[in-house]
Amino acid sequence: MTLTPGAPTVTLPPLPHWESPPADLPAAIREIKHALRARIAASGRTVEEVFAAVEARVRAAVDDILAARARGETVWPVIDYADIAAGTVTAEQLRLLRRRGCLVVRDHFSREHALHWDRDIVDYVEGNHFFEAYRGPGDDFFGSVGSKPEIYPIYWSPAQMQARQNERMATVQAFLNSQWISESDGVRWFDPNRDSLYPDRIRRRPEGAESKGLGAHLDPGTLDLWMTQAYQKAFRHLFDGTVEAYDPWDASYRTTGPQYPGSTMCSAFRTFQGWTALSDMDHDQGVLHTVPIPEAMAYLMLRPLLSDVPDDEMCGVTVNQVFPATERHHSLLLQALSGIPDVKAGDSVWWHCDMIHSVAPVTRQKGWGNVMYIPAAPWCARNEAYAASVREALRTGSSPSDFPDENYEREWPDRFSVDDLNSIGRRGLGVED
Ligand SMILES: [Fe+2]
Repeated sequence: MTLTPGAPTVTLPPLPHWESPPADLPAAIREIKHALRARIAASGRTVEEVFAAVEARVRAAVDDILAARARGETVWPVIDYADIAAGTVTAEQLRLLRRRGCLVVRDHFSREHALHWDRDIVDYVEGNHFFEAYRGPGDDFFGSVGSKPEIYPIYWSPAQMQARQNERMATVQAFLNSQWISESDGVRWFDPNRDSLYPDRIRRRPEGAESKGLGAHLDPGTLDLWMTQAYQKAFRHLFDGTVEAYDPWDASYRTTGPQYPGSTMCSAFRTFQGWTALSDMDHDQGVLHTVPIPEAMAYLMLRPLLSDVPDDEMCGVTVNQVFPATERHHSLLLQALSGIPDVKAGDSVWWHCDMIHSVAPVTRQKGWGNVMYIPAAPWCARNEAYAASVREALRTGSSPSDFPDENYEREWPDRFSVDDLNSIGRRGLGVED
């Protein structure tokens, strides 16, 4: 039962939930949609009314972005690392970060340092004959045809680990984590000052590359977003008639629950996804775009309940596939799709974990497009559980368990080892408290 503050006391019907993927997906979708509609109706508002409220809020954000673009402004907020480190980020910059949910950190690392890491990675993979050993894409999502990959399934180079456990990285992650509500109702959902060093891959896209890019999608989950008890609590305001109280920066119930398994899943809770640039990249060279509206998640979650979506469909969301954002269902949101500005090697790029993102296509790319994927994944029950498998993967040089079982680095003698961890790294992997 959920009580609406200030509203007449009503008992809302409970929701069915599935803590692992239901065997009969269409039947479960029908059941949960019926239950969600009934619960919203019991609050005294219709699905159409609550969706209209969300749509108006999102439309205002879209208009704000289109107006900024028309004025020639950069949609993505940009903050200097020096200001984050010195605590001199202005209130106006913070407001824009919270409004847009994404950020470029300028000079997060010096350009020389980032270019050095890029060369180190080349030496690491070439020295270990990675290209001769490469067997093709190990998953069905980032796969691309060709002998040399763009996404390298490499996790344990010294350069990557040095970046993950770098103090400047920890400073930015803590700053980003602190944009979230990490404590509520007497529960500390995560520790904003301790990151779990989520290991991910690297991308190296060479000069002259042709790339079809990546379609608009989001990564926080799939049907579990509607179907597990933890996510139903996390999105409680969307489902109990109090959509105005929905706060995309509230981490309540987000850091403990299960996730449905899938080839694109992320076991960790991430406040922000992110990457660090290892080459200069111009804004028109096939770069990352987002729909920079954190509260658009409310729209994405309620959209399948409208009457134009068949009862056994969720706007194309299903298990084991990425959550798509489409013109058919989300055209309002996609109007706001905005690319990053030019970045230099050493800048880092961040976006709220629920936000729609895509990668633009490019032909005859100018310059390299090299990044290390490093998100902000603060210490919490979910990330502590995953850290155990990360420690094991680091020890053996294996692919982390969220990724395809490719294990290129096991016999590579110069990979990063447990002994190379500093105190940030040891705390991040739960080797020490
Ligand atoms: Fe993604």
